[in-house]
Amino acid sequence: MSKIAVIGTGYVGLTTGACFAHIGHDVVCADIDETKIERLNAGEIPILEPGLDDLVRDGVAEGRLTFVVGAAVAAADCEFAYLCVPTPQGDDGAADLSYIEAAASEIAAVLPADAIVVNKSTVPVGSTHVVERALQRPDVKVVSNPEFLREGSAVHDFLNPDRVVIGTEDRSTAASVASLFLGLTAPVIVTDPASAETIKYAANSFLATKLSFVNAMAAVCEAVGADINDVVLGIGTDPRIGDQFLKPGPGWGGSCFPKDTQALVHIAESAGYDFGLLKGVITANVEQFELVVDKVEAMVGGSLEGVRVAAWGLTFKANTDDLRESPALAVIARLAGRGAKVAAFDPAIHKSVNGIRVVDSAYTAAEDADVVVVLTEWDEFKWLDFQKIADLMASPRVYDTRNIIDTAAVGKLGFDIKTLGRA
Ligand SMILES: NC(=O)c1ccc[n+]([C@@H]2O[C@H](COP(=O)([O-])OP(=O)(O)OC[C@H]3O[C@@H](n4cnc5c(N)ncnc54)[C@H](O)[C@@H]3O)[C@@H](O)[C@H]2O)c1
Repeated sequence: MSKIAVIGTGYVGLTTGACFAHIGHDVVCADIDETKIERLNAGEIPILEPGLDDLVRDGVAEGRLTFVVGAAVAAADCEFAYLCVPTPQGDDGAADLSYIEAAASEIAAVLPADAIVVNKSTVPVGSTHVVERALQRPDVKVVSNPEFLREGSAVHDFLNPDRVVIGTEDRSTAASVASLFLGLTAPVIVTDPASAETIKYAANSFLATKLSFVNAMAAVCEAVGADINDVVLGIGTDPRIGDQFLKPGPGWGGSCFPKDTQALVHIAESAGYDFGLLKGVITANVEQFELVVDKVEAMVGGSLEGVRVAAWGLTFKANTDDLRESPALAVIARLAGRGAKVAAFDPAIHKSVNGIRVVDSAYTAAEDADVVVVLTEWDEFKWLDFQKIADLMASPRVYDTRNIIDTAAVGKLGFDIKTLGRA
């Protein structure tokens, strides 16, 4: 078993650290955020991620998982240092590597001889060399090992990976990194760093393309009188297409897709390729936010001025508390921009966000509302008492951008209910 330092204890780093400890490694997780480390040391999990609390508790109890402030403290006694720091979008669309460079510089002097530094953050082609330059340690190998976990099922995804991608020119370093995953059943793809880095952007951009495609198909379905749910079933059962990421919605978002698609456009452009297809995917996504707002506006009679909207859902998807680049927030901002008065409810969010009034239940949000807009696919929205909601609302109307509400049942209660991609 190996000694692993995880630098950055966010969604990826905390999951990586807890899962590596779970499979037997000795892990020290570091962050610059002292409050986060204090909370972790007090047994509090700062993010919502199913199963993570159990893993952290077990890892700490068994002495295999500790939390410290500062990358250098964690890296001083490690064999592997996993960089899990942010790579946000820079002003020009390219990934901002300043966190990566800072973390590498912090650990450069303390890394034991022959340690291996692993980029788990999503980084553009050439970033292993960026880290090598920041480290100035010829004895230390730098490897790309991109992460494919999905928030909301991060622990499951880490422990049951579809594949482990390792980017390095050095076979024995690849074997060392692959050995960390022993016990997990997954194909290991060993490639050069540029290909490993490209795989991550290609994966996210392809999934975003699938989502923009299905959103466009939802518009076509509405126009021609087809049902997107059946169309998705019909194409998703084709293994060449697959049924994942094939559900229409209010647009895609989250901490990765928006910045990673922009970064790939930038990477391609810098290399002389105009990635028109991906630019179209990004544009279609912004249009999707607008389309949802147009539909809600049409539903309430053509103007949103003074209209009371109950927004159900704020997070970018269900089973997470992550609000970064949430399509729900993008839609709500546009609704408010056209004069709507929004009251929002989300099971994972208990404070005001971006000035939005956040209330404590879906029922409270629905009080005196002219329309409910379902924006995040939380299961619990399906099981609400819609008779009670009808009684609370000024007029019983639902616009369901996630197609999760039983339209027939709710329609019988007198609701005007509309969904994406169905007449
Ligand atoms: N969130 C996802 O679903 C996901 C999935 C795959 C890949 N990624 C990639 O993983 C990376 C991290 O994403 P995230 O969502 O975990 O970010 P995050 O913002 O949740 O966490 C990053 C953490 O790094 C800490 N940090 C920053 N600089 C540091 C330093 N010098 N030393 C120690 N800690 C430092 C921050 O305080 C923060 O806690 C990004 O590149 C992202 O694109 C994210």
